[in-house]
Amino acid sequence: MLSRLAFGLLLSLHVLLVLSSTTNSSKSPFPPASPSLPSLLNDPSWALGVRLYKALRSDSSSVNTLFSPLLLASSLGALAESSVGKTADQIQDLLKTPSKAKRKVGDVLSVALKSFVEANGTSFQMHTSSSVFTKQAPALSHSFTKQSQSRFRLQHQTLGKGDFKADLKQLHDWAKAVLSEKKGAPLEAEIKAKAGAMILANALHFKGLWERKLSEESTDHRTFLGKKYTKVIMMHRAGLYHFHEDIDNMVQVLEAPLWGGKASLILLMPFHVENLARLDNLLTLELLSKWLESTVVTSVAVSLPKANITSTLSLQVGAVLLAV
Ligand SMILES: *[C@@H]1O[C@H](CO)[C@@H](O)[C@H](O)[C@H]1NC(C)=O
Ligand SMILES: *[C@@H]1O[C@H](CO)[C@@H](O)[C@H](O)[C@H]1NC(C)=O
Ligand SMILES: *[C@@H]1O[C@H](CO)[C@@H](O)[C@H](O)[C@H]1NC(C)=O
Repeated sequence: MLSRLAFGLLLSLHVLLVLSSTTNSSKSPFPPASPSLPSLLNDPSWALGVRLYKALRSDSSSVNTLFSPLLLASSLGALAESSVGKTADQIQDLLKTPSKAKRKVGDVLSVALKSFVEANGTSFQMHTSSSVFTKQAPALSHSFTKQSQSRFRLQHQTLGKGDFKADLKQLHDWAKAVLSEKKGAPLEAEIKAKAGAMILANALHFKGLWERKLSEESTDHRTFLGKKYTKVIMMHRAGLYHFHEDIDNMVQVLEAPLWGGKASLILLMPFHVENLARLDNLLTLELLSKWLESTVVTSVAVSLPKANITSTLSLQVGAVLLAV
């Protein structure tokens, strides 16, 4: 068990991190995240997250696929509310959930984002900001900037008149300021913003705080398969966790609570040492939802790599024009 968990860990599962549970748990003996999870299928950020994750992973050169579906979906939600016609349809399509949600997508996202920010300092520490950058574009309406700031924490910045390099520097400086100089991934993406362009940017520094500490003392070096085999520092802990084994698909599902029960870390692991291609292919929102509902409290020995993971992603979603 120990080595299986250690070797098979999904480095890229951050897609699935955090954004679910808001139940109150600190009093209960077991982490409660699962009871709140049937709503996964109604949640636009999970739906977008899984689709985007799969799209990104289909590029075989991808390494760490790390992004926040909630931040991205919220920023898109802000744009959806203020756009019209084809643009609005396209964004709504991106935020579509498999089941017909009863509440408006924008409201669901706005509430989820609020509780995410409120949980800062309990289950995790984070620095984050979302901005829409425009390049030589007509002025955005005051009601849009006000609404998107208050409901979706989306700010507006204008890019200068300079060339692509100057734009990139401006984005980089913005991210650095948001992350308070914490070491982030270099911004290498080619950004070629023409006049009238709009760039959505999310920056996030996230540190999960364990509910039950993994032992710092009993760390050791172990072989770990990421893109290739490397030696990494492993932390170990045995205890009760929400756990499920999907025998048919040969996948283990483990939910590790973070401090205060406002969030949890979900680990998906193949039974045997293999790269992530098979698991990536399997992943759907429905299966994920089924897995999380199937977990039961089980005694498990966990080994996790101690690591800092950084990544920058640049997505071209086509020109999105704002009706202002
Ligand atoms: C969760 O706990 C907080 C503080 O302990 C309390 O104010 C709130 O009402 C609780 N929410 C639920 C859904 O029980
Ligand atoms: C989270 O809390 C830290 C420390 O209290 C603070 O510096 C940071 O700005 C907070 N993040 C957000 C998004 O509010
Ligand atoms: C992760 O980053 C922090 C802060 O930069 C550093 O103190 C720590 O040693 C790093 N951990 C690993 C495993 O690299």
